[in-house]
Amino acid sequence: MEKFVIGGGKALSGEVYISGAKNAAVAIIPSTILADSPCTLENVPNIKDVEVMFEIMTKMGAKIEQTGKNTYYVDATGIETTDVIFEEAGRMRASYYILGALLAKKGKACVRMPGGCFFGDRPMDQHIKGFSILGAECSFDDFKNCVSVFAKNGLKGGNIYMDVVSVGATINVMIAAVTAEGTTVIENAAREPHIVDVANFLNMMGANIKGAGTEVIKIKGVKELRGVNYSIIPDQIEAGTYIAAIAATHGKAVVKNVIPKHLDSIMVKINEMGVKTSVGENGDSISIDASGELKSCKVKTTPHPGFPTDMQPQFVVLMSMAKGTSYMRETVWECRFQYIEQLKRTGMDVKISGNKRDLLIIEGGKTLHGIDMQATDLRAGAAMIIAALCANGVSTISNINYIERGYDRIVEKLQALGADIAKESC
Ligand code: EPZ
Repeated sequence: MEKFVIGGGKALSGEVYISGAKNAAVAIIPSTILADSPCTLENVPNIKDVEVMFEIMTKMGAKIEQTGKNTYYVDATGIETTDVIFEEAGRMRASYYILGALLAKKGKACVRMPGGCFFGDRPMDQHIKGFSILGAECSFDDFKNCVSVFAKNGLKGGNIYMDVVSVGATINVMIAAVTAEGTTVIENAAREPHIVDVANFLNMMGANIKGAGTEVIKIKGVKELRGVNYSIIPDQIEAGTYIAAIAATHGKAVVKNVIPKHLDSIMVKINEMGVKTSVGENGDSISIDASGELKSCKVKTTPHPGFPTDMQPQFVVLMSMAKGTSYMRETVWECRFQYIEQLKRTGMDVKISGNKRDLLIIEGGKTLHGIDMQATDLRAGAAMIIAALCANGVSTISNINYIERGYDRIVEKLQALGADIAKESC
């Protein structure tokens, strides 16, 4: 077991280079199953969730080879199996994309129930609704703990209205619909940048998808998809996490390899808090100057283009460094505040409120002191790192496997920003 040891109290400065987007990569990798020839994927982040997805694909019969620092050759043409019930498939949420990919390619699949960070119920009813409308029979096998889908007469396009704006269901149904006969329309679709990236990848392979990034996505079924070379977009949440860390430590730094448009909702709030920012002349970097006083603010998480829920914990720590009262309302997940109790032990003044207990009231400006913490999920772990960077004294964070699931070389990147952080065995 390993832990991060962090000495706080230093302003971050320098440069950080953002890696490929986790939530795009974990969908694009299984989507290579649809191709009739091999793919080359570039800007793939070196994170545990990608490692596990590659392990799953290899166990299924794909040939995967790392041909560069962040480049992989993926040949999924040899995959025969449609049963993906081994342990790795239960380790993360994104394994459910294998359902959509095998349904599109083979007409059937049985995939172990997905795992993933726990912040309340994580249902799949909208995925199942979409697959059913496309003509698949869907069932949960409690004994094998897997989801089975079977399109005995092939998939036919249909109109799907998502009852809930769901990133996973939008991507999964989009993947399945790519080879369905006729046209599929997904309404009330999620609009995250990683959904657009998956659609761009599928279209490059020969799919016919229009409207990704809007609430209505139209997919005309095609018969063949060929392997392509594709570069994954930069990770907006990784970028937002470093921006929050630089701002919380009153630092001054440049965040490189970003698509500023993807960060709009985060940057609006960063600027509201008094942080000076500017986009680099090439349009792919953002300079952050948080040397001034931070101002309190109000944030509500909503699906894209709103403020991303995956930035909620990190931003709560940033808000606690601003004098005055700030408010964070979480509207996407039912209980994504488990990390609060540990952060309060650093001296942070945060209360859960609201009749649905979905509101945090943060009294900022308190001095934090270093403590031992345990990451409870990926983004909470990132928030604990930011708190440790702001605290006086030394903190440790264990359960770092959560953090390494989604942050590529986070210790090296923070050290390059001047942070006093090291990974040690517990
Ligand atoms: C994706 O999860 C991300 N994970 C999550 O990021 C992110 O928090 C979430 O989207 C929202 O942006 C990946 O992309 C691998 P949803 P997903 O389906 O697809 C409800 C991270 O930190 N819902 O958009 O599982 C659900 O309960 C991770 O990188 C249904 O009701 O999220 C939730 O309230 C954590 N029925 C809401 O929709 C369904 O069938 C949003 O969930 C599906 C979802």
